[in-house]
Amino acid sequence: MPGPGSRWWPGATLYQVYVRSWQDSDGDGYGDLNGVIARLDHLEWLGVDGIWLSPTMPSPDDDWGYDVSDYRDVHPELGTLADLDRLIAEAGRRGLRVLLDLVPNHTSSAHPWFVEATGDPASPRREYYVWADPRPDGRPPNNWLAANGDSAWTLDKASGQYYLHNFLASQPDLNWWNPAVHQEFTDILRFWFDRGVAGFRIDVAHGLYKDAELRDDPPAPSSDLIGGRYGLAQVYSANRPESHAVFRDWRKIADSYPSPRLLLGETWVTLDAMAGFHSEDDELQLTFNFPFIFADFTAEGLAGVVGDTMAALPAGECPVWTSSNHDISRFPTRWAGGDERKARLALLILATLPGTLVLYYGDEIAMTDVTVPVELRRDPMVPGGRRGEGRDRARTPMPWDASPSGGFTSDGVQPWLPYGPHAERNVATQRDDADSTLNLCRALLALRHRAFGGRLVSYEQLPAPAGVWMYRSGDLTVAANFTGQPVPLPALAGDVLLRTEPGGVH
Ligand code: NOJ
Repeated sequence: MPGPGSRWWPGATLYQVYVRSWQDSDGDGYGDLNGVIARLDHLEWLGVDGIWLSPTMPSPDDDWGYDVSDYRDVHPELGTLADLDRLIAEAGRRGLRVLLDLVPNHTSSAHPWFVEATGDPASPRREYYVWADPRPDGRPPNNWLAANGDSAWTLDKASGQYYLHNFLASQPDLNWWNPAVHQEFTDILRFWFDRGVAGFRIDVAHGLYKDAELRDDPPAPSSDLIGGRYGLAQVYSANRPESHAVFRDWRKIADSYPSPRLLLGETWVTLDAMAGFHSEDDELQLTFNFPFIFADFTAEGLAGVVGDTMAALPAGECPVWTSSNHDISRFPTRWAGGDERKARLALLILATLPGTLVLYYGDEIAMTDVTVPVELRRDPMVPGGRRGEGRDRARTPMPWDASPSGGFTSDGVQPWLPYGPHAERNVATQRDDADSTLNLCRALLALRHRAFGGRLVSYEQLPAPAGVWMYRSGDLTVAANFTGQPVPLPALAGDVLLRTEPGGVH
């Protein structure tokens, strides 16, 4: 078993690079791996410890890489395996670890397994997926719904059976009851770990197993913000207890490396269920905290969910603090309504809570959502197809500078998603301004290194006036003032390293 010192993630900062939108190196309007390499200096300068790359494997891109057609290669539009190896080496030289995105819940319908499964129902690959006969009246086998609100079942006309897809019809769900599927992923994990990949963000970690009897999902309680899907509680179509055994096995593999590999779950579940994925420190080391992401941006709202998180997690387990990703509105918009002072307050909080911080690209400059005109939208995961609002607003190109292309690609090249307004809010402009959000973020990451030093420190909420949230995080005392007014605070011992001001931070 690895020693405690080999847990590098408590107090560390990870940075999610949405590869297609970060840096285009070849002028095709899409970001790519060589672009990531070209911009690694930014991350070293900022002080992050590792990166999570959004999907890098070959894919028809029906769901922008979350529909994998080959788990052992790199998407040709993003680069080659050699580019990825070089990225890992270049990142390593800068002290940055590289995590990949692993999609084990489903494949692309273009994956050879599914092609075989549909082409030959007698093939052993058939049982890699979830098949069921129609109900007597021909309807899908049960009431499960896909992420776009349609039925989660599509009829395979050739065989007369339905197959399951919790996302798009071109993302058939894998059948985790089949030990062969389990074995495939064991091999895939080792393939990447052996190449030096430091870990995985695991897509839909709570979803792998489905109810063996395919029972109908019950109606979701109206209070249920997490885990509900179009009015149904995903009790049978996901969230099954059998998934825990998969993560216990993967954890053994991760821990078998001299530098233990990290398993970070996309756990879109309640706090108690999230804590369950840590189990007795023998499943996922880190889990995304969606109740925190969706908490009200108020002293009471955040203090409540943070206290509940600390109470729910087993002792010694490391929480994750994040509030933007490629599926949701960015926090400078969702929490801060575009007010940069509030976004700075959010960064202060995210960076000073004990545990692992995961920044999304652009968080460091308080990048907001971008309104994408209907004709330019690219996200299909919306009710009604390609014209819905979708998730494109949080996936637009990184604004590196004030030039027309924002430094993302060559001027004159059409980016895959439109640029937001970036004349002022861009990396270059903010680097030159000592009081910018970018420089605040950098100072916060340096503070994390000094104050947390790779340790999981303790958390304690302190008494505070209404509208102020005060807490101790190891040796740090943090006072976050949400009132928009000056508030007198009790005298504190120690140096003031950063101060919150009415509605903001400097
Ligand atoms: C969660 C991913 O973050 C999202 O982008 C994707 O559409 C679904 N899982 C399906 O893979």
